[in-house]
Amino acid sequence: MPLFVSEQTQFLLDKVVSQSVHTASPSFIGHMTSALPYFMIPLSKIMIALNQNMVKTETSKAFTPLERQVLGMLHRLVYNQDEGFYGRWLHDAHQHLGAFCSGGTVANITALWAARNRAFAAVDDFKGIGREGVFAAFKHYQCEGAAVLVSERGHYSLSKAADVLGIGRNGLVAVETDGRNRIRPEALQSKLAQLRSKGIRPFGLVGIAGTTETGHIDPLDTLADIAAEQQLHFHVDAAWGGPTLFSERYRDRLQGIERADSVTLDAHKQLYVPMGAGLVLFKDPATLSSIEHHAQYIIRKGSKDLGSHTLEGSRPGMAMLVHSALQIIGRRGYQLLIDQGIEKATAFAEMIRADQQFELITEPELNILTYRWRPKAARSLLEGAAGEARFRLNELLNRCTRYIQKAQREHGRAFVSRTRLTPECYQGQATLVFRVVLANPLTTLAVLQDILQEQCQIATEAALADCIDEIRLLTDNR
Ligand SMILES: Cc1ncc(COP(=O)(O)O)c(C=O)c1O
Repeated sequence: MPLFVSEQTQFLLDKVVSQSVHTASPSFIGHMTSALPYFMIPLSKIMIALNQNMVKTETSKAFTPLERQVLGMLHRLVYNQDEGFYGRWLHDAHQHLGAFCSGGTVANITALWAARNRAFAAVDDFKGIGREGVFAAFKHYQCEGAAVLVSERGHYSLSKAADVLGIGRNGLVAVETDGRNRIRPEALQSKLAQLRSKGIRPFGLVGIAGTTETGHIDPLDTLADIAAEQQLHFHVDAAWGGPTLFSERYRDRLQGIERADSVTLDAHKQLYVPMGAGLVLFKDPATLSSIEHHAQYIIRKGSKDLGSHTLEGSRPGMAMLVHSALQIIGRRGYQLLIDQGIEKATAFAEMIRADQQFELITEPELNILTYRWRPKAARSLLEGAAGEARFRLNELLNRCTRYIQKAQREHGRAFVSRTRLTPECYQGQATLVFRVVLANPLTTLAVLQDILQEQCQIATEAALADCIDEIRLLTDNR
């Protein structure tokens, strides 16, 4: 039986809306999904009512140039080329400053797809990896395989990219990080040498500007030097941290990003656009030609159809919302949001450090930090303990962190996420931590204080400190 719209609406209100996650809440600080500015709701309605399809100009006449305009605006933010450059390439049918897509995952895949096709390009009688496939490419280029390198903090979308691009998940090579979760350049150099000695051809290097778990930034300038020296495509995954470039105060933290061959940005993260908007920018507008595809009924050769240079086919006109956000929030608005987020994270780190019940695990470089519950008794024990005792205590603290995080989520007043890190100070022992992402401007220090308080209360009610006292007794009695 078909339903009336009113009946379906009632069902949605009762069963779906009421059970949905309140991502806009100032105390929802666990993930990268945050509050939207109010104007996104009426503007989204316009976008949906128009139902433009970005794959071809015949269904997106005004939206196609608008999308190119947005790519140009963000290209300028990263690469800041001169007027002549943008005048020449912004609306060129054959060259592209970037590609819009549904999010950071597809943006990363697109970047590495273009990098792979350029590294294994057509030469002599070989028609290119895109046409002949991976096996023929490796045969022609006389290698046993291909690789992309990224720090061990790389986002899992890169591993998906390696999988779909046919180099295999093992083709994404993880490089050790330092105590601040940044790639170690000397470890990178030695991984590159190892790969080459095994006949594996590295073709891409990914730097991260804002790691998903800790918000740290790789030394991008150093990576750009290594990429140039080793002839690698240098991609920067700035899905999270990219908008830091709007901040006069903090943009230097991304120093070297302008040397990347490609850069991923996620508009549905720190550009405050609804879910489903990511993009990848290319320094050289000819790069995307390596993934060009055509068909007879649309995306014909020479047309301005965007679908000839994107992984996805039919796509919504999300660029309209990104354009609106860039115009309405503007450079200064984003600067304010970024500065506030970073400064709030610094203040929260201070608050955690000053509290005897908690331990800060990673210092914020952007607006993400991690910490764990570690009561006073555990602190002194950890300081004195070594070897097995320390290991067991950390295991116990891991169980407590998991318990507190789950209980807080179930209470429903606040939400922090949790992840597993391998901090240097614990000799790489797997350590469960609370992860906090501070992107909602309405999250105040008072809200953060309440979150800590609730975590302490959960620990007290569950008598978690008693477990630690038992460990103390065990260690004392040895
Ligand atoms: C650094 C980084 N890259 C890529 C992605 C993937 O983005 P999406 O979830 O939009 O596909 C994320 C998502 O959190 C991310 O943090």
